[in-house]
Amino acid sequence: MSQSLEQFQKVYAESIKDPEKFWANIAGEEIQWFQKWKKVFSWDYPNYQWFVGGRLNITHNCLDRHISAGKGDTTALIYLNEKYKKKTISYRELLRQVNKFANGLKSLGVKKGDMVVLYMPLVIEQAVAMLGCARIGAVHSVVFAGFSANALRERIEDCAAKVVVTSTWTLRRGEKKELKSTVEEAIENLGFVRHVIVLQRDGEKFELIKEKEVDFKGLMEKQSGVCEPEEMDSEDVLFVLYTSGSTGKPKGIVHTVGGYSVYTHYTTKKVFDIREDDIFWCTADFGWITGHSYVLYGPLSNGVASVMVEGAPDYPAPDHWYKIIAQEKISVFYTSPTALRMLRKYGEANCKKHNFSSLRVLGTVGEPINPEVWLWYQKNIGADKLPIEDTWWQTETAGHMIVTLPGLRQKPGKAGKPFFGIDADVVDASGNRMPVNGKGFLVIRKPWPSALRDCLNNHERFEKYWNEIKGVYFSGDFAIKDEDGDIQVLGRSDDVMNVSGHRIGSAEIENALVSHPAVSEAAVIGKPDEIKGERIKAFLVLKPGNVASEDLLADVKYHVKREIASMAVPEEIECVASLPKTRSGKIMRRLLKAKELRQDVGDLSVLDK
Ligand code: WT7
Repeated sequence: MSQSLEQFQKVYAESIKDPEKFWANIAGEEIQWFQKWKKVFSWDYPNYQWFVGGRLNITHNCLDRHISAGKGDTTALIYLNEKYKKKTISYRELLRQVNKFANGLKSLGVKKGDMVVLYMPLVIEQAVAMLGCARIGAVHSVVFAGFSANALRERIEDCAAKVVVTSTWTLRRGEKKELKSTVEEAIENLGFVRHVIVLQRDGEKFELIKEKEVDFKGLMEKQSGVCEPEEMDSEDVLFVLYTSGSTGKPKGIVHTVGGYSVYTHYTTKKVFDIREDDIFWCTADFGWITGHSYVLYGPLSNGVASVMVEGAPDYPAPDHWYKIIAQEKISVFYTSPTALRMLRKYGEANCKKHNFSSLRVLGTVGEPINPEVWLWYQKNIGADKLPIEDTWWQTETAGHMIVTLPGLRQKPGKAGKPFFGIDADVVDASGNRMPVNGKGFLVIRKPWPSALRDCLNNHERFEKYWNEIKGVYFSGDFAIKDEDGDIQVLGRSDDVMNVSGHRIGSAEIENALVSHPAVSEAAVIGKPDEIKGERIKAFLVLKPGNVASEDLLADVKYHVKREIASMAVPEEIECVASLPKTRSGKIMRRLLKAKELRQDVGDLSVLDK
């Protein structure tokens, strides 16, 4: 495992000097192509392409090639739930099911390029559905099953999904949450949604609505287990995933097959120092990019067993996850700082009850990790010695960008070094490099293979990533770089919050708030939270005739839950007479935040007094 700093620096320097050569080598060695690319990279600023003219299918690399190599009986996915009910599936069987689902989609008239929205629990069938889409070139867009009917509808409408795949319910903290009824509400009067495929989970059977609904298992039963993979162009779209930005509307981030396959495969391999017999557990849900890249595509492309656990970290007991690590002999464990802070609160005694000797590499993602939590993680879960891969990346980057590889000296709280081929820097608003340890914007100087290719139906928004600071990719994060070149990511520089590792825009919540009949104006800020990283506070100006009663505020919270999701509901609401605005009428969230946190309010020259 241990690679020396010199070795790393040598390869890194080569990868930056000639990224095209570097990625062409990796793409050729690590990924099987039906047809080799003609050109490694083309850049017509701000648009770019990778492995131009190459043809491949990500499911071939995630499934068929392992079976051809004699690994058909190896476990591909391990599913567990709150009741420790376990299901496993081998690479061979997974391929058979993926093919059946793919043929099922075809039988419903789904073709290459058609959009399929998934709104499902974290179950093996969701992996089958994602891979089934990729098999035939249909484009999946997974919507996290915690989003409300309205939020789901907005996404289904934006991508004009032909098919929605859902399930009867999902399980969290012992409670069943219905999903099918949410989909029914979301697609009301949306004529372009032709079919809803419903996974009937154990127990009671739900009645299916005749015109549209199709039984998931029934659909597969009738199909052949053989389906040749669609030969996709490297730049064909693999999936769209919505994420929040600083405007009120979520953005559909577009990723394409070739670059995504190469980059997620290679980062998984290097960052977790993958071994053939790894039991790999990334605790994310498929509803987020981490679930796409490091529960599904990355681990499967590397041929290891990937674990998925439906439910919460601390239910039915605070040591639920520890028990799974010990029982399943997890070797790579990858989770969020929020989950770690929660586990830490329950105390070390829980860790000591379990045997963690199978663990080899640990990781975190989603938000900055406090150095004390990093050290706690290493001491109590990592036997005081395991590497902790603090990985900085985004929905837009699709794979790890800043990370200190196993074997290199790690600094708690600092993600560290750019990955191979990644030219990252910390700059001021004009793009000039900041002095050592100066706070600036984290940018990437050149496109990498899995960089977002577009924002669905909004190319201008895509261009903004490369225009905000001319010529470079603008991440939206603040960072500092130390004398060794190690980067510490400090958090967002825009009006985007990070609650429990999930990105949520202030404007999105404000839009939901002002759509409540009693609310006239709203401003939303994030406040530091010991467990969640940030928690949401809303300031409201009520319409005349309304009083800030407990009932009204409860109703406002419920309204946000209905409009977006539980995770978007403000924990605190304060009703005020007016909000601070600039002369042009823009609400100054920055000022509200500074006052709330009793910080210096800074330059107030633009405030309309
Ligand atoms: C934002 C991206 C990356 C997948 C999960 C979140 C923050 C992410 C780290 C980290 C500090 C981090 C950034 C980034 N973030 N990882 N290791 N250290 N901050 O994906 O929803 O697209 O959010 O998460 O602020 O911009 P996402």
